[in-house]
Amino acid sequence: MASAAKPMIAPHAIQQVKDAARVEEVVGEFVALKRKGPRFLGLCPFHNEKTPSFNVSPNLGIYKCFGCGEAGDSISFLQKHEHLSYVEAIKWLAKRYNIDLPEEEQTPEQQIEQSEREALAVIQQWALNWSVEQLWNTDEGKRIGLSYFHERGFSDATIKTFQLGYVPEYGSQFAQAAIANGFNPELLEKAGWIKRREDEARTPWDFFAGRVTFPILGLSGQPIAFGARTLKSDKKLPKYFNSPESVLYNKSRSLYGIFHAKKSIVEQDLCYLVEGYTDVISLHQAGITNVVASSGTSLTEEQVRLIKRYAPTVAILYDGDAAGMKASLRGIDLVLKEGLNVKVVTFPEGEDPDSFAKSHSSSEVTAHLTDTAQDFLVFKAALLMQDVGDDPVKKAAAIHEIVESVALVPDLVLRSLYVQQCSRLLGVNEQALISEMNKVLRRQYRKKLGGDQPIPEEHLAPDIAAPQPTLEDVGTAPQERDLLRMLLSYGHERINVPVQDEAGNTTEEETSVAELMFELLALDDILFDEPLFREMYLDYRHASNLGTQIETSRYVTHEQENWRTTAIDLLTEKHVLSPNWKERHKIHVKRESEALYDALEEAVDILKERRVDRMIKERQEELKATDELGMIALLQEIMHLSEAKKRLAKKTGRVIVG
Ligand code: UTP
Ligand code: MN
Repeated sequence: MASAAKPMIAPHAIQQVKDAARVEEVVGEFVALKRKGPRFLGLCPFHNEKTPSFNVSPNLGIYKCFGCGEAGDSISFLQKHEHLSYVEAIKWLAKRYNIDLPEEEQTPEQQIEQSEREALAVIQQWALNWSVEQLWNTDEGKRIGLSYFHERGFSDATIKTFQLGYVPEYGSQFAQAAIANGFNPELLEKAGWIKRREDEARTPWDFFAGRVTFPILGLSGQPIAFGARTLKSDKKLPKYFNSPESVLYNKSRSLYGIFHAKKSIVEQDLCYLVEGYTDVISLHQAGITNVVASSGTSLTEEQVRLIKRYAPTVAILYDGDAAGMKASLRGIDLVLKEGLNVKVVTFPEGEDPDSFAKSHSSSEVTAHLTDTAQDFLVFKAALLMQDVGDDPVKKAAAIHEIVESVALVPDLVLRSLYVQQCSRLLGVNEQALISEMNKVLRRQYRKKLGGDQPIPEEHLAPDIAAPQPTLEDVGTAPQERDLLRMLLSYGHERINVPVQDEAGNTTEEETSVAELMFELLALDDILFDEPLFREMYLDYRHASNLGTQIETSRYVTHEQENWRTTAIDLLTEKHVLSPNWKERHKIHVKRESEALYDALEEAVDILKERRVDRMIKERQEELKATDELGMIALLQEIMHLSEAKKRLAKKTGRVIVG
């Protein structure tokens, strides 16, 4: 079919999209940008740097990095950063700016493909309804299909959510009904529902006869294919029959369960990956809804990119079978290469996620997933080192294998962190690992370019181990100062705060800015570091808890001079609204006092973000002097903290790259 032909977008529509796109907004979705006069500045996402040299000029509609030379407009930014084609980038922008792209002009070939896709979609939806009807409302369906699902522990609600169905065993009942309904047998065959005998009449028969069905849904919930499981224990028959690929169903781009999972993948910033249909369903029933399956095949690049659209981290759930685990280690390299964080969860010998979910309570399953998740590279290193023993040849092979994986991590900082970890885990000098890795990097680079160009130096780890980030410049004084300013300026003001009652309904409750601040900071036991700010904050809180009406004069005329000057400074300071605000409020807010709740929450979030930053740096320092066990724990902590940081950054609108 014409799948290779490029769809066309009318030039005037492209122009409309280009006119609407604001380069600072588009880039700002992926890079934290700070305004510097007429332009914006940030850390370049295309090379590793510590001081920002990535410039965005709204006036010119372009970005340019003075470090690595990358430059372009919103469209080329998306192409490069998100690995989109030109057309995909236009579509991305159209969506972002709510522009309807007119129907594309199609070649006759594309029209045929389009109508075949639509016809197959109609068939799959009809077949879905039919198979569900068979399961619930026919004798055979209930007796065989439904009771099978019940035996497996699926609840009625689960069976309905996943729209599981049944196809009767005898009489080609599906084929008859579908053909009677007017569907073309050739298309029914392309959809995978029937096969036809080689006889004169090309007699159709039901491919899924006597099987229960698992519809595979596209991103918007439409059925695009089916898996059908036999209920017989005959080992000669394949356990599952699956729909063939078609213009509607591209196996390597689909993930089973994605429709039901995507919302919670985004919420949790995490996607669990399992092997089979039933693993997805059982975990879902146990309350873990951010889970998808690659359906038996090894993961493809497209599937990884699909996940990456929703979350930065994948946790792979392995069943308790060491051989299988080792065999699939290589497959994970693909995920690393796309820059996703990869974790691994293992199950006890002989258990898979499905059986584990069945024999444990929901909270046990949740606990298992969070408690046993390990960083993939650490896991891999440990696993490979297990059977190395004293054999130097085996050890060299294991080291090489690990280095090959580490070299795939696109983020340079993370990569060098891994080098350090692995040097400890493997008991190899860090310098040796770096040289080994640089060899691998050079080879990968040459392979990619197909020539023998030298790899640019910035892509390699420095041959001398890089200096580690130090603890400088992570103070939170500016954030503390800002909170104290809000406390003194607005502490007594009444605001409405959204609260959730036990039933989960959101209502509003009136409180004061001061009360809210105390509460928000107490949640994480946060106190100010800066002694003066801390004293003033505690004084305010103490007085307020005693029911004192606090006037600004308490501080402005305080007996201590530094209290007085600080208070006066704070109260007279002109406050600049954060650029994030327009976005947050949709409408323009002129003054901070008009949206105190948001202002306060944002200020607290920024303080927390800084604190998390500091904790990460501290852990990185500790890493330098810890043993193997401590290192794994620290690495875990760093991962957790990085995730917390990403969550906070998302809230404060300061998007972090990577
Ligand atoms: P499993 O054999 O683990 O299947 O294969 P399962 O989903 O756990 O099923 P139960 O628990 O035995 O009922 C994992 C996945 O591999 C694919 C399916 O997508 C399955 O979910 N597979 C397996 C096939 O496509 N065909 C097969 O014959 C077997
Ligand atoms: Mn299974």
